[in-house]
Amino acid sequence: MQDHTLNLDAEGVVFRPTQPRLHSVPDEVLSVLADRIHARDTTVDLADVPVDNPSTFSPNAFMQRFTIVVAVDQALGIGRINGLAWKLKEDMKHFKELTTAGSEMNSVIMGRKTWDSIPAKFRPLPNRINVVISRTQNVAFAQSVTSLDAALELPAGKVFVIGGGEIYAMAIQHPQCEELIITKVSGTYKCDTFFPPYEDRFQLDSVLKLGNEDGIVYQIERWVPRRLTPRFDLTDAG
Ligand SMILES: NC(=O)c1ccc[n+]([C@@H]2O[C@H](COP(=O)([O-])OP(=O)(O)OC[C@H]3O[C@@H](n4cnc5c(N)ncnc54)[C@H](OP(=O)(O)O)[C@@H]3O)[C@@H](O)[C@H]2O)c1
Repeated sequence: MQDHTLNLDAEGVVFRPTQPRLHSVPDEVLSVLADRIHARDTTVDLADVPVDNPSTFSPNAFMQRFTIVVAVDQALGIGRINGLAWKLKEDMKHFKELTTAGSEMNSVIMGRKTWDSIPAKFRPLPNRINVVISRTQNVAFAQSVTSLDAALELPAGKVFVIGGGEIYAMAIQHPQCEELIITKVSGTYKCDTFFPPYEDRFQLDSVLKLGNEDGIVYQIERWVPRRLTPRFDLTDAG
């Protein structure tokens, strides 16, 4: 579990003992923190701070931001009998390139059933930190956690939530979600697992690719969350 403790220094600057100083904290947040800190001998747990406007400040500020990656058919189907319902090599390639890009090790967060659906010889997915969410199981060859929040507290380069249906349902509502990369596959494939409706929460940003593989037409799109109010995030500060 990551340490959410903050300190307040003599100049009124909030900082985490283990991280560089965090500046530009809004006044209302600072005064709440100051009261708590004085009452609690100079430390405060962010999770306990009552903030009137949670869109401006939240303990989630210390969780990783993440991208959701998914491929859906026209009915938002994502899989059948705990496997994928179509085969698209180009989309697999896109998934690999996206999730391994950059100089740091990225992490891929998935539900236990998605982990189980990956053939044993292909897992853990190479060159990525594999994180598996399960209420009950400790999965070998991956980092096991018991919640999405716990997965987002692990250190990593870029963070990708890669399914399946149960995990996507939590991820699209999570405040740290900053991007949805969705491959839309033409047709329907009698899926038994689905991506949740997302268009009320996200807006189309750009079309990244249009392709056709063996007659299956697909389009890769980038969507971003609709934000009603600008967010303040301590990780952006100074
Ligand atoms: N098309 C795509 O892009 C794509 C991507 C990924 C997966 N898929 C497909 O999606 C299907 C699998 O999705 P799914 O919805 O059945 O399963 P899933 O989301 O992969 O995993 C569900 C499991 O995650 C754990 N879990 C769920 N909510 C949790 C919570 N709040 N706290 C702790 N653990 C929690 C539970 O594990 P325990 O039971 O161990 O407690 C649960 O059984 C497969 O068909 C797969 O091929 C498709």
